[in-house]
Amino acid sequence: MLRRMSTPQRYADKIVLVTGAASGIGRATALRVAEEGGSVACLDVAADGAEKTAAEIGGRAKAYGCNVADEDSVTAAVAAVVGDFGRLDVTCNIAGIGKFAHTVDASKDEWDRIIAVNLTGTFLMCRASIPHLLETGGNIVNTASTAGVIGQPYSAAYCASKGGVRLLTQALAWEFVDRGIRVNAVAPGGVQTPLIQNFGFPEGANLKLFDKITSPMGWCQPEEVAGLFAYLGSDEARYINGALFTIDGGMTC
Ligand SMILES: NC(=O)c1ccc[n+]([C@@H]2O[C@H](COP(=O)([O-])OP(=O)(O)OC[C@H]3O[C@@H](n4cnc5c(N)ncnc54)[C@H](O)[C@@H]3O)[C@@H](O)[C@H]2O)c1
Repeated sequence: MLRRMSTPQRYADKIVLVTGAASGIGRATALRVAEEGGSVACLDVAADGAEKTAAEIGGRAKAYGCNVADEDSVTAAVAAVVGDFGRLDVTCNIAGIGKFAHTVDASKDEWDRIIAVNLTGTFLMCRASIPHLLETGGNIVNTASTAGVIGQPYSAAYCASKGGVRLLTQALAWEFVDRGIRVNAVAPGGVQTPLIQNFGFPEGANLKLFDKITSPMGWCQPEEVAGLFAYLGSDEARYINGALFTIDGGMTC
């Protein structure tokens, strides 16, 4: 865990919904927002993991099993969150999946699954959250990736999904710019989480191609990315809208 000199309380009285809260960046973001005084709805398809994160936080958190790729599941979860907490101030869409594959070997099912979770899931969560965020003047922070900024080898579906999240974010930011909702995205790269460890090099891959997506600065920790989510979702970022913030050790510069 990174040490901070003092923890600001930017989320006192705020209700924050975090998807992917069972693991990695989502878990770290849920913990960080709670540390800053927020109440947190921890959503994940891995309901047990979401429960663990909520239990770690304590009284101001509640867990919800939710598959972001499933319209009914998203509708029910957002309604439950607003029913339990009474309002919604920030939605952090962090749930995601990915896997390297040779494009010619990749199945349509695998393509559909990655697009469904990363892109359609983000859309569904935004759509369900927006009516509640309009009431609070709230905001959304989505998760793109360096793979939504530059081409990444053996990652056709993942790149397409994250490039989609980037433009979805900007489309929503501009659509709601006159109604008080901000929509931004974080684009991480090289964060030490289970997701990156499970990407798996495809057999016969040209390892030299991975130089482009490796930073000489090494790995980043999920808590460092959580700090960026916490900033963008807070009132300190009032004038930041439609922005994509890379946190990738410079690999896209
Ligand atoms: N780790 C990195 O280097 C990196 C880089 C760029 C982008 N990202 C993105 O960051 C986000 C978080 O990834 P992470 O690295 O923390 O991975 P992670 O595997 O640790 O966490 C992802 C979480 O999403 C949940 N999830 C998966 N499918 C879901 C679904 N259908 N509905 C609800 N929850 C679901 C998982 O159960 C898991 O808890 C993802 O969107 C990922 O694409 C990660």
